[in-house]
Amino acid sequence: MAEHPAYPVGLRLTGRRVVVLGGGQVAQRRLPALIAAGADVLLVSPEATPSVEAMADAGEITWERRAYTSGDLADAWYALIATSDPDANAAASAEAERHRVWCVRSDDADAATAWTPATGHSEGVTVAVLTTNARGRDPRHTAAIRDAVVEGLRDGTLVAPHHRTRTPGVALVGGGPGDPDLITVRGRRLLAEADVVIADRLGPRDLLAELPPHVEVIDAAKIPYGRYMAQEAINNALIEHARQGRSVVRLKGGDPYVFGRGMEELQALAEAGIPCTVVPGISSSISVPGAAGIPVTHRGVAHEFTVVSGHVAPDDERSLVDWPALAKLTGTLVVLMGVDKIGRIAETLVAHGKSPDTPVALVQEGTTAAQRRVDATLATVAETVVAEDVKPPAVIVVGEVVAVGSRTPASGA
Ligand SMILES: C[S@@+](CC[C@H](N)C(=O)[O-])C[C@H]1O[C@@H](n2cnc3c(N)ncnc32)[C@H](O)[C@@H]1O
Repeated sequence: MAEHPAYPVGLRLTGRRVVVLGGGQVAQRRLPALIAAGADVLLVSPEATPSVEAMADAGEITWERRAYTSGDLADAWYALIATSDPDANAAASAEAERHRVWCVRSDDADAATAWTPATGHSEGVTVAVLTTNARGRDPRHTAAIRDAVVEGLRDGTLVAPHHRTRTPGVALVGGGPGDPDLITVRGRRLLAEADVVIADRLGPRDLLAELPPHVEVIDAAKIPYGRYMAQEAINNALIEHARQGRSVVRLKGGDPYVFGRGMEELQALAEAGIPCTVVPGISSSISVPGAAGIPVTHRGVAHEFTVVSGHVAPDDERSLVDWPALAKLTGTLVVLMGVDKIGRIAETLVAHGKSPDTPVALVQEGTTAAQRRVDATLATVAETVVAEDVKPPAVIVVGEVVAVGSRTPASGA
């Protein structure tokens, strides 16, 4: 007999009876999707795995603790036959056929009248992959195709523009510290859908090279600001591009709200009536020390970490940082934008009680191919920065955590 391809369909199971025979691993894997589909699930099985039992305890399914008996499938719309008894499976399968109930069989795909596709979800779409016929069934292959499609949609490498639902506006996207793998899935997808990207110098610059040619990429540092401040000029550029109906991504290094001026941009957009979404990012304040083998906390060593900006010196009247108070803390101090001022910062910390021997690490261009770590102490850091020619961007870590763990950067792969 010629073998025809399976006919794909989406079952709408809300409130409809689905009978599952067998409470083992197969049921455990399949039940969550049936529950999510709103099915009225009846499990018939003398035993069940602890996870399946928990679903019954939570009232998500009805569990009858017994073996299959003829008549169990009479009211079913759909059945999953997965007991460990081949005779019971065959009998249930025959009953399903008599009652015209579509049925999946875990032990015999040939005898089944339905197959479960490999499924995944991304942004309101269900991806379901089936092999064409029983002969070609290879569950690993279908699962791998499903993964490739879902991951591609999530990370933006598979671009499917939302022609009908896409709304113009601005997304403030935290791009992470620099390694292109360290942006969020949502950020990467929004980037793939953008018409215009306004990018900072810091962050995952490599991702910009992957954008299709029609995407306009603007370097935020090069936006002319004439009578405006640079930030105002960036805000205006965001507003103007969004008003032209374009999808704009403002790609920032790290997290938009950690010394990223994200809120200023959000407020300017709100005042202009432009819809804006904010996508968090992995901040360099934690990830860059981590990439250099430094945990910002460690049991028995540091129970707190404080992130401060070092862009103005401690004695500068514009400084909002209470350096004398920080000198009294026992935890980790993480200084961003502090390379130029580290000498005066170290002096201030020592003057207010921190030991001159406190370890310090400077991690330059963390998570990128150019990453390097330079170690010092509060007493030596000023001269070390000059001698080693440490340049921004760098994250400076002050505290005993610097001496914890290996000096070899942890592998990110
Ligand atoms: C204006 S702040 C932005 C911080 C960013 N929003 C974040 O959450 O990481 C810039 C500072 O972040 C730090 N920084 C950002 N990316 C870095 C990297 N890859 N390596 C070292 N320092 C980095 C440096 O201290 C730099 O001067």
